[in-house]
This record gives sequence, C-alpha cells and structure tokens, in this order.
Amino acid sequence: MPTTTEQEPKLRGDSPVDPKDNQRGPKVRAMFAGIAGRYDLLNRIISGGRDQAWRKRTVKMAALTGGEAVLDVCCGTGDLALMFQRAKAKPARVIASDFTPEMLVLAAAKARKAGVELPLFAADALCLPLPDACVDVVSVGYGVRNFQNIDAGLRELARVLRPGGRLAILEATPARGIIGRFANWYINRVIPWLGNLLTRSNARAYSYLADSIQLFPDAPALKARLEAAGFTDVRFRKLNLGTMAIHVGVRAS
Ligand SMILES: C[S@@+](CC[C@H](N)C(=O)[O-])C[C@H]1O[C@@H](n2cnc3c(N)ncnc32)[C@H](O)[C@@H]1O
Repeated sequence: MPTTTEQEPKLRGDSPVDPKDNQRGPKVRAMFAGIAGRYDLLNRIISGGRDQAWRKRTVKMAALTGGEAVLDVCCGTGDLALMFQRAKAKPARVIASDFTPEMLVLAAAKARKAGVELPLFAADALCLPLPDACVDVVSVGYGVRNFQNIDAGLRELARVLRPGGRLAILEATPARGIIGRFANWYINRVIPWLGNLLTRSNARAYSYLADSIQLFPDAPALKARLEAAGFTDVRFRKLNLGTMAIHVGVRAS
C-alpha cells in the first residue's frame, strides 16, 4: 500500500489504467468491477489483517458526537460505512456511494446480512447528485487516489459538507528511507502478484493500485491540497510505519 520519496516514481508500466490519465474514470470503474468479488479478501491479506483497524481509527478521528448525517464516498463493499453505523456516538444516518455497481451490490448484501440500513447510490465522487451543505461528515477510504482530478474531487466533497462539517480520508501515503524502500518492493512486487493470483485474472488491476499509490501526494502535500479545497484545521495521523495516513479537516464557513 505504501510508497516512495523519489520525485519521479518508477511505475510498473504494465497497469491496465494509466494513473496519470485524467479521463480514466470508466477504466477505473471496469477495473474495480473485475476485482469486486475478491476485494475484501485481498484487503485482509495485503494489510496483514489491519485494514479494519485502520477504518475504525478513521471513524474515531471523524469524532462523531451523535446525530450526524454521514456520507461515505467510494464505499466499495461498504466496510467504512458500516463502521460508521456501528460508532458509539450513533449517527442519525449513514449513506454511501460508489461509481462501480458491482461494489454497491456487495455493500448492499453486507448491510443486509448485518441487519443494518445503509442507503446506497451510484455516483462519481467528483459529481455527487446531492445539494450543497447537506451532510455533517464525509468519509473516503482508499478512494481519493483514484480521483481523475484530486483537487476537483476535494472541492466536491467540501461542497456537500455543511460549514463546520468534517471530512475524514484514509489513504496510502509515501514513506521514507528503509521503510519506503520496503514499501515500494511490497507494492510493486508482492501486491500485484497476490492480486493477480487471488483474483485469478490477468487484468493487472493491482499494478494500477501500485502505480496510483506511488503518484499520490505525501501526507503534508495532501494537507495543503485539502486547505486549498476549503478545509481548515486539517491534521493527519500516520499509521503502519508511516505508509498509511488519516487526514481530517473541517469545512470552512
Ligand atoms: C480501493 S476501493 C475502496 C473501497 C472502500 N472505501 C474501502 O475502504 O475498502 C476504491 C473504491 O472507490 C471507487 N471509486 C474510485 N473512483 C471513484 C470515483 N471517482 N467516484 C466514485 N467511486 C470511485 C471504486 O469503484 C472502488 O469501489
């Protein structure tokens, strides 16, 4: 999941989607559709069983007080949205969206199985079918790095948040030194190998994930971009030896 410090990260070059392509939305969607059925299993394996703990920490950093309207975008199979549903300070409602229908079907099944009401809708996070200032909390787990345009996506998330509302982002982040070198080896070699093996596909989806992680801004740079997009009090916490980060920010008035 983690990454590098070089100015020009060395990409694998065999990815089905060019992570620098700002029109890549449909290809990203097709890629996630292809791995949806194995997505949870791969997450658990790739993270060494830690991914749910990182989502739990994200919910904690969102600092719910109870009664909030929460929107989880890029919800995938629904793990982060369901984690918000189970928060101690119970939100009034949690809704979730994703632009890959195959992911939404799995999220719906998971919510049903958990006996939880989770309204879901298909939408591109860069163009949400929601009015301005309609939710109190927005969360994104491992989604921002897939945005065709990160800054436009962050501005869209700010638009739907009420002033004073909070954004929480869980994402992979570049690591430095020996950890960074190990992380690069892991994302470039181990993750694509495991991903292709377990999804039994030649889609090389996990090569794209490796490339997209390497191109993603590091934690201070993402903080600056959140501030430019209209967030204040932005702070981040690194996890997993600095290879993961949770950013939280408040929608400026
Ligand atoms: C790596 S998965 C993360 C899923 C989930 N949030 C989690 O914590 O595991 C990324 C998800 O984001 C979705 N996605 C990527 N770009 C998107 C966009 N622009 N709009 C909506 N969904 C997007 C994909 O369909 C995929 O389900």
